[in-house]
Amino acid sequence: MSISVLLTVPVLFLSAFARCDSQPNIVFIFADDYGWNDIGYHNPIFQTPNLNSLAADGIKLENYYVAPVCTPSRGQLLTGRYAMRYGLVHRNIRPAQRMCLPLDEVTLPEKMKQAGYATHMVGKWHQGFYTPACIPTQRGFDSFFGFYICTEDYFTHSASGGFDLKRGETDPLFLYLAYQSVHAKYASVPQQYSDLYNGIIEDERRRTLAGMVTCMDEGIGNITKTLKDSGIWDNTILIFSNDNGGLPAHGGNNWPLRVRESLYECCSG
Ligand SMILES: *[C@@H]1O[C@H](CO)[C@@H](O)[C@H](O)[C@H]1NC(C)=O
Repeated sequence: MSISVLLTVPVLFLSAFARCDSQPNIVFIFADDYGWNDIGYHNPIFQTPNLNSLAADGIKLENYYVAPVCTPSRGQLLTGRYAMRYGLVHRNIRPAQRMCLPLDEVTLPEKMKQAGYATHMVGKWHQGFYTPACIPTQRGFDSFFGFYICTEDYFTHSASGGFDLKRGETDPLFLYLAYQSVHAKYASVPQQYSDLYNGIIEDERRRTLAGMVTCMDEGIGNITKTLKDSGIWDNTILIFSNDNGGLPAHGGNNWPLRVRESLYECCSG
């Protein structure tokens, strides 16, 4: 069995798949500030062949709601609880803030471990790190490769080298791959990707963002291929979602849905 679920507006929790004889592997890919109108099957200008084909073979959830910024949105996914319940509904955690996902919250990876899963996280945490008890490996993940804050330079702190599906081979895998892409405060992408949109998208910010989208799509294509090559794809559920929609000031677009106000810009200040 292999099921892909593509969610282009974020999800609070997903428990769509019930019975399996063996426990399936679960790969949850989470994009950042990714607009409704910025994926190929909503807007054909965007070149996302891998996401399109995963969506075509899978199940699309086209209607659901999330928090407007990163910390509450990601925390809700990781706890299955509305952020107002644990006091983090308002804003993002800033790098210097003594604050994190409350330590008495039970996390999704903790529950996955109880169910026998090896739990790995790659990417963006953004649930606080002021004391060691707050970091991903103390909150249910067997391993973590990524960064703690909201956003950072894509090139000097790339997270792409740390992806290794061969670890924890004997357990079913729960991988939470939380991209910074396509967050565009530090918008940057190798030029060959943005060049694909020369003459198609005039606005430079949006052209860069489109290149970032296609680069992310290629990365997801590579991950899918690795899962297939290592023989575990047939027992894998892949979920793709994102934390909140596109930010027009950064080239994102949610048409025909409501504009995300820049008041809610993730990681400002
Ligand atoms: C995808 O894999 C190819 C082949 O290994 C590599 O050249 C390319 O950089 C990868 N793309 C991304 C976005 O990681």
